[in-house]
Amino acid sequence: MTITEATEKMKAIGQEHVLKYFDELDEASKEALLTQIEETDFSVLDLIGKADTHSVRGSFSPLVAMQLAEIEKNREKYTDEGIKIIKEGKVAALLLAGGMGTRLGSDTPKGMYDIGETKHVYIFQRIIENLLDVVKLADTWITLFIMTSEKNHEATVSFFEEKDYFGYKKDKVRFFKQEMAPACDYTGKLFMETKSHISTSPNGNAGWYSSLVRAGLDKVIEKEGVEWINIFAVDNVLQRICDPCFVGATALAEVSVGAKVVKKAAPDEKVGVICLEDGRPSIVEYYELSDDMRDEKDATGDPVYNYGVILNYLFHVPELNAVGTTSMLNHLVEKKIPYIDESGNVVKPDEPNGYKFEQLVIDMIHKLGSCLPFEVIREKEFAPIKNATGVDSVDTARELCKKNGIEL
Ligand code: UTP
Repeated sequence: MTITEATEKMKAIGQEHVLKYFDELDEASKEALLTQIEETDFSVLDLIGKADTHSVRGSFSPLVAMQLAEIEKNREKYTDEGIKIIKEGKVAALLLAGGMGTRLGSDTPKGMYDIGETKHVYIFQRIIENLLDVVKLADTWITLFIMTSEKNHEATVSFFEEKDYFGYKKDKVRFFKQEMAPACDYTGKLFMETKSHISTSPNGNAGWYSSLVRAGLDKVIEKEGVEWINIFAVDNVLQRICDPCFVGATALAEVSVGAKVVKKAAPDEKVGVICLEDGRPSIVEYYELSDDMRDEKDATGDPVYNYGVILNYLFHVPELNAVGTTSMLNHLVEKKIPYIDESGNVVKPDEPNGYKFEQLVIDMIHKLGSCLPFEVIREKEFAPIKNATGVDSVDTARELCKKNGIEL
């Protein structure tokens, strides 16, 4: 793209300030900025100031979860089935590690965070140790895809190299980068990260399948005969990955996706709960629950909208092929976005100062026809690290790890 074309493109959307420093850039930086302008999809900016179309929801109805008692009754059957499928090489794991972890506030990728107290216990290490439990049980290696972004890719890969993959088999680990989206202030004006780079951020965790395909890794899935992909967040240090019982229950239920869920702590807990929306799996946010829905009970007296998702899903590959690369909704997310000011100085805000655009996995779930919510015990499988202190923090995760006998 030439500078004239770039100027026209940016002028047409009222963003010509991104070229303010163009003349003072060296040739390589000029080229990089022109390429970024050419390749970036700025249409997401149209969302600013528009009514949130996602707020127009369909009609909700309950989606019955497979609860602990039923799981216990069938644990052996489900686990045997899961182990069989895993042994056949039909299950892969996929770590969502493209996020920026801004709330935690660490300069390195979130997975490099050390939660150890008397020794090093990195978040990535916890994840690998959890997966290794299943590798040992099934006596077979499981392919692990790791999604990064251009912001943290090199640091993540080098860390795994340096730590010798925490004992995992290196050639079973495949990294790939997710797509990026531009970031802007509250009026929709693009931020500049440097004089030659428009601020961008990873485009949300729903882009994982299209990014995987773009990286050519669908060929690996095809070649290895992978039929199920267990995606999971980087920040839950207790979660079971490729849990054979979950795999077996989901496969035997013949659904498009299995979702690990935890029971709400109280009917008015502020979490999104899994349900059906117009007959398809979906998440209803706590503020969308009417009083009637909140108070509705099942035959055992439990609320029918009672299970929150923990970002641990098992997708059936054939259905993914049909929906995974189709276009996804973009959500506006308020974040702290570093930028250069009018004088070219770097500003690192302490409070959210603008929007990033993210596509969410829950929208992907909604495209699928069927889902099995599978209950797990919160204290045993859910220790998310979102913040440095307080709720869902390093402190709370440490506490839960210790309760589960994990030495820190
Ligand atoms: P979060 O919603 O917690 O976002 O991600 P985040 O970016 O990590 O953290 P904050 O909000 O800036 O503090 C949930 C999971 O989805 C992954 C994260 O890495 C985490 O595992 N994720 C999120 C991606 O892989 N890509 C994204 O673009 C966003």
